[in-house]
Amino acid sequence: MSPALLIDRLCKSYGTVTAVSDLDLRVEEGQIVGLLGPNGSGKTTTVECAYGLRKADSGTVRVFGLDARAEPGRVARLVGTQLQDSALPDRIKVGEAVHLFAALAHRPVDEAETLRRWGLADRRGAGFGSLSGGYRQRLLVALALVARPRLVFLDEMTTGLDPNARREVWDLVEEVRRGGTTVVLVTHFMDEAQRLCDRLAVLSRGRKIAEGTPTEIVNRYGGGTVVRFPVPPGQAVPRLGDLPGVQTVNHSDGRIEVRGHGPFLVALGHALTVAGLSRTPLDVASPSLEDAYVRLLRREVAP
Ligand SMILES: Nc1ncnc2c1ncn2[C@@H]1O[C@H](COP(=O)(O)OP(=O)(O)OP(=O)(O)O)[C@@H](O)[C@H]1O
Ligand SMILES: [Mg+2]
Repeated sequence: MSPALLIDRLCKSYGTVTAVSDLDLRVEEGQIVGLLGPNGSGKTTTVECAYGLRKADSGTVRVFGLDARAEPGRVARLVGTQLQDSALPDRIKVGEAVHLFAALAHRPVDEAETLRRWGLADRRGAGFGSLSGGYRQRLLVALALVARPRLVFLDEMTTGLDPNARREVWDLVEEVRRGGTTVVLVTHFMDEAQRLCDRLAVLSRGRKIAEGTPTEIVNRYGGGTVVRFPVPPGQAVPRLGDLPGVQTVNHSDGRIEVRGHGPFLVALGHALTVAGLSRTPLDVASPSLEDAYVRLLRREVAP
């Protein structure tokens, strides 16, 4: 079966600025795949090339096996998009916009149901220009889905949404996926990526620098789990550096900090128990996706 999206060695420059360089990306049908990366790293350019809005300098994009350049019309019918800089005329009303997009779709969703699900029913008569940032964003995401696309690109879909609205939109995106739609999600929010995405690709300066499930990225780049605990004065401390999975041990000001991977927590617990420290309060900090991301990018820009 063809993947929903297959990008092969995509390159795109704007004059002397290289926006995307030799990028490969494979998105299997039914997945939610996140594109992460700092500002200017090429995420929107990748999405725009994949959607056919921009012409790549080289490389290929296939959507469900179709060459996006050779068959733009067929590809467009399979794809929906909420682009980062999307906008509508200020005077178009919410209900009119949904109606317009539905009229252009081959097999549109129910308009009233869409307005209700996206919390827009009360604002159906409001002009786009009068909507707050969050409601504009909801409308643009809703419009991306009106034609029941098999693949949808959502570029910073929750930027500007309040915390509750973000969670509502996450639920809706999961529902969209349950309905069979594949999602490519560009986001700067690590909690969003962690919660929604099956896989992640991290871009930096137009190149893909990491890829994997959120858990894989955390394990690979998060720097390990850190355990801190106090040591009473005069207490003998076992040799912890030799335990399996331990990377570093630091001892200062009556506290020990052990950093490690994999099975080291069990080994550490056992060693402390044997040393008579079983009642010691342990402060355990596991790395988050944000920790991993920040470490990965620091490493990337380090000289
Ligand atoms: N239309 C354009 N003309 C010239 N340069 C552009 C254009 N669009 C993007 N760029 C440049 O291409 C590079 C990649 O931009 P892009 O918008 O793809 O990044 P991004 O990862 O989406 O960033 P952000 O997180 O800020 O949205 C940047 O250096 C940007 O300045
Ligand atoms: Mg962008």
